[in-house]
Amino acid sequence: MPRTPPAPPGQPESSGALDAHWLGLAGRVCVVSGAASGIGRAVAEALADAGAAVALLDQNEVALQAVADTLRARAAAVCAVACDISDEAAVHAAAARVRAELGPVQGLVNNAGLLRAGALDEVPLEAWNRVLAVNLTGHLLCSRAFGRDMLARGQGSIVHIASVAALHPQTRSGAYSASKAGVLLMSKQLAAEWGPRGVRSNAVCPGMIRTPLSARFYEEPGFEARRAAVTASRRVGEPRDIAEPVLFLLSARAGYVNGTELVVDGGLDCMLMDMVPRPGFNDPAAAAAPDTKERDHAQA
Ligand SMILES: NC(=O)c1ccc[n+]([C@@H]2O[C@H](COP(=O)([O-])OP(=O)(O)OC[C@H]3O[C@@H](n4cnc5c(N)ncnc54)[C@H](O)[C@@H]3O)[C@@H](O)[C@H]2O)c1
Repeated sequence: MPRTPPAPPGQPESSGALDAHWLGLAGRVCVVSGAASGIGRAVAEALADAGAAVALLDQNEVALQAVADTLRARAAAVCAVACDISDEAAVHAAAARVRAELGPVQGLVNNAGLLRAGALDEVPLEAWNRVLAVNLTGHLLCSRAFGRDMLARGQGSIVHIASVAALHPQTRSGAYSASKAGVLLMSKQLAAEWGPRGVRSNAVCPGMIRTPLSARFYEEPGFEARRAAVTASRRVGEPRDIAEPVLFLLSARAGYVNGTELVVDGGLDCMLMDMVPRPGFNDPAAAAAPDTKERDHAQA
């Protein structure tokens, strides 16, 4: 069995190729929402590398087709469906098409999501409702529509992409944090209800990942270094850093992992006390306080 060689010293450990055989995902039909960009795209690529048949959902049809073409060029079985995951009829139509083209679904990655900044006393109700409709209700609609095959077979795995924002409040990001906290409990609820029927449900909480969602932050000079400085691993994450844990949770290797959340943030979560000013103790790089403008733009 081929083995992934260890990463060279100083290189991120997750940068090597996946050991597809170890995961046992070859031939499995897996759905990824928000697959046209960022984390969803990386998950879809990793699934294709692992030999899975991949169904791609996204509302951005042009970008979706480009990802589908890339995966087909790697000889992956692919079905691409343009779909707004907050539209129940569209999600049901997508599920029917995926079943017809690829067969019964065995794995789902609820990833599509969006961000609308705004403090709770001023965020427009329309923005609040849209964030919840996509980030929370959209995950439920996809779980129901694609979970049907898994429940019928008595086997399957669902992974929801939440956020570290689900665990910690962040000013001017209340709708997003609330939607992601809802995802965590919905995931546990699904585990409790569907676990006895053979379907697992888990969540991943990414930290700060460089994707098109957050790309504009990194255009500001010095911004990436400041984010790296408050992360234990001293770097900003890449989409592949999330894709690999997601594939593990999808696979039978995580067969007894159910109803839990995996924080994948490079150790950001354990840095809180390091950010508390303590004369003579703080690492000067980590202690550097971002200016107000950066703090207001910084969304996980
Ligand atoms: N980037 C980060 O730092 C970060 C951190 C924590 C959590 N997350 C979460 O990871 C997930 C992916 O984020 P990303 O950074 O890759 O974002 P992204 O903007 O690069 O990709 C999101 C994709 O979802 C699609 N999408 C949005 N709304 C949709 C809808 N209603 N129906 C179908 N598709 C829709 C978009 O078209 C896009 O292709 C999101 O749920 C996000 O909240 C991201």
